[in-house]
Amino acid sequence: MDKIILEHYKKLSVEWGLQGQMSMQDQVIRERETKFLIEQTKHCLRLLGVAPEQAQILDTGCGNGYLLQALWEELAGAQMTGLEFVPELVHLAQSRNLPGIKIEHSDMRVAQEHKAHIVISERSVVNLLTWEEQKLALTQISQWVRPGGFYLMVESFHEPWIKLNDARRENNLPEIPVSPHNRYLREACLETLAKLGLREVEGIEPKNALSSHFFLSRIFQHLLKSDSRPGLEKIWSALAEGLKDNFGDFSPILFRVFRKDSL
Ligand SMILES: C[S@@+](CC[C@H](N)C(=O)[O-])C[C@H]1O[C@@H](n2cnc3c(N)ncnc32)[C@H](O)[C@@H]1O
Repeated sequence: MDKIILEHYKKLSVEWGLQGQMSMQDQVIRERETKFLIEQTKHCLRLLGVAPEQAQILDTGCGNGYLLQALWEELAGAQMTGLEFVPELVHLAQSRNLPGIKIEHSDMRVAQEHKAHIVISERSVVNLLTWEEQKLALTQISQWVRPGGFYLMVESFHEPWIKLNDARRENNLPEIPVSPHNRYLREACLETLAKLGLREVEGIEPKNALSSHFFLSRIFQHLLKSDSRPGLEKIWSALAEGLKDNFGDFSPILFRVFRKDSL
């Protein structure tokens, strides 16, 4: 199974190098995830009363280090660690050469010593292709978060993926499949996280903050394309600008925040 992941990202590392598109070609999603993770990190550090230069942040499955660089630019002096499984991506992330950022070649399913105020996973737990492996990673994550600290999870979920495809089917659009290098999480994983001491708390954005974007880009835009009336472009712009971010439940990718029980 690891072979699928190693080969997939080896190819993407050559194609995209240090760019954000390496793991996410939809630039709206990439930008929104990055903004959420930066602002949520700052908010959590304020709640913890930890100054940026004292902060320890860990990004598990950090890819080419795109997010770590964005965080580094905003949080001067923070100590940051990236864990990454694919050697080509480890080398890319290390090539950013950013003081205070350590990139380790490691497997998040395997026990290792880390402690951080904030642990982040951005579409990386879904790269583990069985629930057993995902549970191993979530167990590790729960041990890396300091008591009272936070786990910021940007991962895809099965339930909204079903709703997205139901809506596509109603509009005669084909199903969007889950790619072979992903296994989406299920809501039930929250019970596991709670047993591990990680409880969901409210984030600075609603967890379905990408829902309107998925509705517009994965459903509505296709309906417009099938109709060539020029006035429809105006409807598209009006909706894209006027719709609140979290209309419906159409985004498999959710922005979730968990807090580790205090000792
Ligand atoms: C969809 S990419 C996201 C990368 C990065 N978080 C980003 O947003 O660009 C998933 C990442 O998880 C990494 N990954 C997969 N399995 C892993 C494992 N067992 N341990 C650590 N990283 C892993 C992949 O190599 C890949 O870089």
